[in-house]
Amino acid sequence: MDWRFRFSKSDLSDTVFLHKSGVNPSAGCRFVIIPPVESRRGEVFVNRPVRHQELYAPHGRELRSGTWTAYSRLIRREGTRAVMKTIADLIEDRFGLPVDAGRDMPAEGDLAHILSHRSHRRYKPDPVPDDLLEVLLAAAFSAPAKSDLQQSGVLIVRDAEKRRKIEALMPAMPWIADAPVFMVFLADNRRIRKVSEMRGKPFANDHMDSVLNAAVDAGLVLMNFIRAAEAAGLGCCPISVVRNHIEVISELLELPDHVFPICGFCLGWPAGDGHISLRLPPSVFVHTDRYDDSRLEQEVAEYDARRSARFQIPDEKQRSVDEYGLAQEYGWSEDKARQVSKPERKQLAKYLKRKGFNLE
Ligand SMILES: Cc1cc2nc3c(=O)[nH]c(=O)nc-3n(C[C@H](O)[C@H](O)[C@H](O)COP(=O)(O)O)c2cc1C
Repeated sequence: MDWRFRFSKSDLSDTVFLHKSGVNPSAGCRFVIIPPVESRRGEVFVNRPVRHQELYAPHGRELRSGTWTAYSRLIRREGTRAVMKTIADLIEDRFGLPVDAGRDMPAEGDLAHILSHRSHRRYKPDPVPDDLLEVLLAAAFSAPAKSDLQQSGVLIVRDAEKRRKIEALMPAMPWIADAPVFMVFLADNRRIRKVSEMRGKPFANDHMDSVLNAAVDAGLVLMNFIRAAEAAGLGCCPISVVRNHIEVISELLELPDHVFPICGFCLGWPAGDGHISLRLPPSVFVHTDRYDDSRLEQEVAEYDARRSARFQIPDEKQRSVDEYGLAQEYGWSEDKARQVSKPERKQLAKYLKRKGFNLE
């Protein structure tokens, strides 16, 4: 359960003891919270699930069991306000905008996990056990699939030499080398063509929709894998840059016709907390009854400001400074516009045709 305790600054000094490492029940404090904590607007939040053992009554009486009601009664008696972290709080973390939706829903379960998603690019060296990987893959392939055609796959790169070759192609992304597990998610339109052959039937859908269906299936499997891995405490980072080297990687991994990689994938135990990446507001993504992006410019400007307030991209991370100069205000939109001003993966259609796809 994820609790958020909210204290005013004056409460802090005498009622709460923020212990550096571990719990000291005899400290005479009303109860003890183990960091990490985050201080914001004069409030202190516990930013991760709090276990029973971490909550102590005065003088170290442990709260062995109890519900939110029991906790809140105790806390009220002790004179400190406490509120449970809610789904609305997680939505606010994600978009940086105030919201009422989800205010009465505790921040727990699947919804909380989904809202707390973050990519991880630093991993501990500890291996991911094979049986856990097997479980995660089973969860991943529980994803829905278009017409039940099941046009997806994953290739786990275990061979050290192959991994070294893949890492060498993308030296700007050292997390590929650090990750205990590296995989490639595949769109696989080959299997259903073989099934047609096995059943002595023609495959009459040799057109662009086959590419799209297989890519969507693979994307859903990718997402399911991420959810499963995060639920198990693992960290992930998809790697679309494998598509910059699609010919070499396909050859290395012996991908046959009608199979193509949608992305590489790093998996491991996160070495840090990572961070929530602020998204564009839902109003930009969601349309009602008709498509409407008339407020896009203003929404993007406001988003840039919110995002830069949370994390300002440092000058040395500005893209293509030689060409575009060093921007005074370098937010998300400037960064992304500079990124897509450079052609990438222009060879994809050629590659797919070579792999036997008809793109008409
Ligand atoms: C299909 C796909 C490909 C991605 N490719 C890369 C990549 O090549 N390198 C990388 O560091 N991150 C990659 N990412 C991670 C995105 O950069 C990340 O999802 C995005 O910045 C939002 O951050 P978040 O996932 O922490 O919310 C990819 C994500 C997706 C879904």
